[in-house]
Amino acid sequence: MQKPVTTIIDKETCVGCGLCVRVCPAKTITMINGKAEVTGTYSLACGHCEAVCPVDAVRVEALEHPFTLASTSFDPCWLKPGACDTGQLVRLMLSRRSCRNYEYREIERSVLEDLVKIGTTAPSGTNSQLWTYTVLASRREVESLGEQTARFYHGLNRKAEKPWLRFFSKIFGGDALGTYYHRYFQTVEEGLDLWNRDRVDTLFHGAVAVILVGGNKNASSPMEDALLASQNILLAAHCLGLGSCMIGFAVEAIKRDKQIRRMLQLPDDESVYAAIALGYPAEKYEKTALRKKIVPRYPLR
Ligand SMILES: Cc1cc2nc3c(=O)[nH]c(=O)nc-3n(C[C@H](O)[C@H](O)[C@H](O)COP(=O)(O)O)c2cc1C
Ligand code: SF4
Repeated sequence: MQKPVTTIIDKETCVGCGLCVRVCPAKTITMINGKAEVTGTYSLACGHCEAVCPVDAVRVEALEHPFTLASTSFDPCWLKPGACDTGQLVRLMLSRRSCRNYEYREIERSVLEDLVKIGTTAPSGTNSQLWTYTVLASRREVESLGEQTARFYHGLNRKAEKPWLRFFSKIFGGDALGTYYHRYFQTVEEGLDLWNRDRVDTLFHGAVAVILVGGNKNASSPMEDALLASQNILLAAHCLGLGSCMIGFAVEAIKRDKQIRRMLQLPDDESVYAAIALGYPAEKYEKTALRKKIVPRYPLR
């Protein structure tokens, strides 16, 4: 994949400290006669050189200058390791819950766009940033995806309920259909009934927006990139007063159903790895979440 160099160094301003050379992961910059110079033909455009320069002599043109948000201001100065409030961070992480009850109140477009932007602050393999964000910005759009997802699962359940199809799936298909039948058939059947009978939305839980986080299949690690961005979005949503929930059922349907992919205008070289339901929460908690006890392993100690 092409990684053109867009780094510009102002030689007049450069004081020759060499810090940009030291932090550059792609060896794009070299010190020549006491000044930094762009000599490489390849750049990750990670912006480390620009961020480390003490005299503001470096600019990476590929980056958005400045990085701003519509719904909040923030101090752009770098927080050094140890300078953050870990207690507040953990409290935020424990306070984010998967929300399954939303108010019927739309989210402003600018807030959704901020969430997308915040997603992009996540790391990505070789800084490819080849992620994609598809936004369904209204309840009506969410319902359209809900209808199509329901159609997909209705078809899947009709297949999965046939014992002979499950048998063939076991012999030839790694038992995917049988596993689906045992794990999800009943829940999905009940969800479909509730939707058809009473319009109860057990898929998106009445969310008023959805952000689909995807990636270009040619990126080095599209799924990892998308999921890291998703966690940023989940945490930021909580800070912005929103509830959120990852919806794996929607991701599966988008992966397998051509009609849904067409409706979402997804290009062939793109996969969706996360569907994040969003809305103003109609629920509140008295305490933060607890987690199962985890025991790390130390095999080489
Ligand atoms: C990959 C993934 C897929 C998920 N899919 C769904 C889903 O389809 N529907 C749903 O209600 N919750 C879904 N969840 C939410 C989980 O059930 C939830 O994260 C878990 O129960 C822990 O609760 P918490 O998020 O409130 O801490 C999903 C979570 C993840 C990480
Ligand atoms: S970090 Fe800035 S001042 Fe230091 S060498 Fe690079 S461009 Fe010059």
